[in-house]
Amino acid sequence: MPEIVKKRILVTGGAGFIGSHLCDALLARGAGKVVCVDNFFLGKEENLTDAFKYDNFTLYRDDCRQFGVMQSIMDKEKIDVVFNMATIALNYSFFNPLDAYMVNVEIANVLLELMKVGAYKTLIHTSSSEAYGTARYSPMDEEHPTDPTTPYAAGKASADLMVHSYAKVSDSDIAIIRPFNNYGPRQNATGPLAGIIPVTAKRIKNGEKPVINGDGEQTRDFIFVKDTVRGLILAYENEKSRREIINLGTGKDISMNRLMKLICEHMGYIGEWEYREERTSDVRNLCAGIQKAKEFLGFEPKTDFDQGIKETLDWYQNNKLI
Ligand SMILES: NC(=O)c1ccc[n+]([C@@H]2O[C@H](COP(=O)([O-])OP(=O)(O)OC[C@H]3O[C@@H](n4cnc5c(N)ncnc54)[C@H](O)[C@@H]3O)[C@@H](O)[C@H]2O)c1
Repeated sequence: MPEIVKKRILVTGGAGFIGSHLCDALLARGAGKVVCVDNFFLGKEENLTDAFKYDNFTLYRDDCRQFGVMQSIMDKEKIDVVFNMATIALNYSFFNPLDAYMVNVEIANVLLELMKVGAYKTLIHTSSSEAYGTARYSPMDEEHPTDPTTPYAAGKASADLMVHSYAKVSDSDIAIIRPFNNYGPRQNATGPLAGIIPVTAKRIKNGEKPVINGDGEQTRDFIFVKDTVRGLILAYENEKSRREIINLGTGKDISMNRLMKLICEHMGYIGEWEYREERTSDVRNLCAGIQKAKEFLGFEPKTDFDQGIKETLDWYQNNKLI
């Protein structure tokens, strides 16, 4: 069974939300070296404050789409494993659809070609539940058809196809992990790419009504970021994951109305919220089938949503981000 201990690991997009938690977990688990490559499109250096406490952590401010740059980093750092976390958030699809699509495909392409020339051994590639589109049945297992509704999701689905095909052709050491909606400390809270949890908390703090697009009955399977990170590491450690696509979620979905209620309760807000027009490309329901993650990885989500949302909102408040 492969182990994290002493491995030399590269995390693309490691200064982002999930990637930075992954860097912390890998270092805490005794990785030999953790190398983060991030172009800081959305990543933040402060997300890496804990990682920088380790001598065996190195940051490169580079674009993972650059084959030559990535090759020289891998040669220099003698990388064993790559966790591919780099992307540009879904909402970017509404401003720059082509780039939102291409970034996912191009980074996967570079990583696959580098694996082919022996630059590293194992790729844990991160997909997204968005690749499925709206649920045709629920919970959505890995057999559910992919039907992306945004260029971001199309890019994720296309990258998955490419990664899967390389894995089949060359029998490579590759796993594709498909997380559902993540939440937790460090999720971007500012600008048009921010997620619903920090945006809502911020509006309440500023005395504005929280906003829901649509009727609020759309659902998501929210998984706490530290559970996702545990699942990604389990995917590396369990070789049953190789050449497979595996969901990571909780198996429970929550409506936006319920999410609003929980955030409002936690922040002591007793007013109403405002409903705005539904975004046509938003998927209606997402709930993960997690049987495969249980069987192949021994994965169980550990963080109950009420507990996770409290930890998340406390973190935003303590860091003065809301
Ligand atoms: N957050 C979620 O709810 C969620 C759900 C499912 C899947 N995912 C997947 O998990 C992964 C991490 O997502 P996240 O939420 O941490 O996103 P994030 O935006 O917080 O982090 C992505 C990081 O990638 C970096 N990046 C973007 N383009 C780059 C490039 N060309 N070269 C180098 N770095 C680049 C960004 O600067 C950022 O730091 C992504 O693959 C995403 O699709 C996320």
